Amino acid sequence: MLQLGSLRLKSNLFLSPLAGYTNLPFRLTIRELGGLDLATTDLVNARSLIEKNPKAFKLIETSPADQPLAVQLFGSVPEEMRDAALYLESVGVASVDINMGCPVRKVCRVGGGSAMMTETDRTAALVKGMVDAVKIPVTAKMRLGWDDQNITAPDLAKALEGVGIAAIFVHGRTREQGFSGRVNLAGIRSVVKAVNIPVIGNGDVTTPEAAQVMFQETGCAGVSIGRGAFYNPWIFLQTRDLIDHGKTPEEPAFSERIRVMCRHFDLMLEVFGESHGCRMFRKVAPWYSKRFGPANLFNKRVVTISSRAGFVSLLDDYIKWRQPFVDETGGLKPAYQPAPMIASFMEEPESTQREAIPVPKGPVEVW
Ligand SMILES: Cc1cc2nc3c(=O)[nH]c(=O)nc-3n(C[C@H](O)[C@H](O)[C@H](O)COP(=O)(O)O)c2cc1C
Repeated sequence: MLQLGSLRLKSNLFLSPLAGYTNLPFRLTIRELGGLDLATTDLVNARSLIEKNPKAFKLIETSPADQPLAVQLFGSVPEEMRDAALYLESVGVASVDINMGCPVRKVCRVGGGSAMMTETDRTAALVKGMVDAVKIPVTAKMRLGWDDQNITAPDLAKALEGVGIAAIFVHGRTREQGFSGRVNLAGIRSVVKAVNIPVIGNGDVTTPEAAQVMFQETGCAGVSIGRGAFYNPWIFLQTRDLIDHGKTPEEPAFSERIRVMCRHFDLMLEVFGESHGCRMFRKVAPWYSKRFGPANLFNKRVVTISSRAGFVSLLDDYIKWRQPFVDETGGLKPAYQPAPMIASFMEEPESTQREAIPVPKGPVEVW
């Protein structure tokens, strides 16, 4: 389906790294639904990893069902990046991704993240050190450039291809854009045209149709989905169905949404323990509820859960509370159905229909 260096993948759809979210429980939940092959961890500081920092180790925690796995590294010291890649290879990680798109000041200040995009030669040398050291594929994830006047991704991609990078993931926005404005499909296409290795497009894909448009308009070899997977963990399977079999996706039933959310919750508790798992789930659950229709009671209470029993009792109460909004067949009455999702690059230029996809609050909001 897609060859990534020495790695043969069954799907050309990828999960984008979302710091604080793309942990083992989330990856397992999505993998069980199908359509996804290579998934990635949150970004991991290369130095912390070689210093065996427990927090870095928790970020790369995996299991046999969580394969093949990519780990995303950030850092700017070539030896540290190389040694971290060697370590990851030695523990069976399938590929290593390098963060070149992170606009967070803490990461850019030390020369990692999108700062890498402004220094092609230095970055190519760092990547070469990693590629030469390991047999597993090394990939890079970047934005289009620093700002509209500096669209450096095509040149950087070419330079990295020259030192043996296996693929490029590109978020179709500049650093200056942050998360606002439209994803620039022409920008992604210019990266595709610049190289002969797989380019994976990314940004604002919230529906299978949007993934299809990204493939068609950019010629990319794969599509990577981040926030769209929060709303719709079935998006990988549905996109496969649409692309491979022309099958129009159906909205999953409410009961199925609840089943998957509970599975995610249980995995969270298994991996992080009841107390910490519940606290972490407080910021995850509101993403599921965005597609529940009326969810006032759920949203208010879920941010206080601290035990499994509390979560189960909240669900019972919520399902009763939601009854008046539901018809005889169990579906939401039309007036209460959430608006369809529209990707930024699918809307009419003048459209006022689309709300920007929310960016989760907290220290991660500067991504
Ligand atoms: C909360 C959050 C955390 C993110 N963390 C990372 C990260 O660790 N590494 C990275 O390369 N990109 C990160 N990103 C960027 C995403 O991987 C992706 O490029 C971006 O969200 C656009 O894709 P989407 O519209 O499908 O979400 C993050 C984005 C968000 C919203």
